[in-house]
Amino acid sequence: MQTSKLEQCAVLKVPTVNDARGNLSFLNELDHVPFAIGRVYFLWGVPDDSVRGGHAHKNLQQFLIAASGALDVVLRDGVTEQTVRLDKPTEGLLIGSMVWRELENFSPNTVLLVIASAPYDESDYLRDFDDFVSATLAP
Ligand code: TYD
Repeated sequence: MQTSKLEQCAVLKVPTVNDARGNLSFLNELDHVPFAIGRVYFLWGVPDDSVRGGHAHKNLQQFLIAASGALDVVLRDGVTEQTVRLDKPTEGLLIGSMVWRELENFSPNTVLLVIASAPYDESDYLRDFDDFVSATLAP
């Protein structure tokens, strides 16, 4: 039986060094981030009633970290859904390909750091949920 794409998503620790001067978190490619890094971008200044995402990626993998603040990430595989709250810079959410995601309930001043496996490519997006379900459930 095919594994659910949601089971391939995971909350992973971001290694962090704490001392009296403050905290330092770091990520090594192909280690703490389990893919080769093609791009980094960040969302900030997001109004609290804003919903972002609303798409899946055919191939892209992403690792999401709430570097500041908090948000909910709703993950859907076309059958079930799961909500992950990101609210600390010491953990990140790995999202594999072919997982629908919506980002919502941003707290004020949230900065969401996104590490992605490839540069931006609009042709990698599935932006229509019905198309996503058809693609993901196809044999
Ligand atoms: P969009 O996909 O709507 O953002 P979200 O992930 O919140 O759904 O992207 C918003 C705009 O930014 C859209 O015009 C595409 C552009 N964009 C880039 O140019 N480069 C990028 O790396 C990303 C993620 C988006």
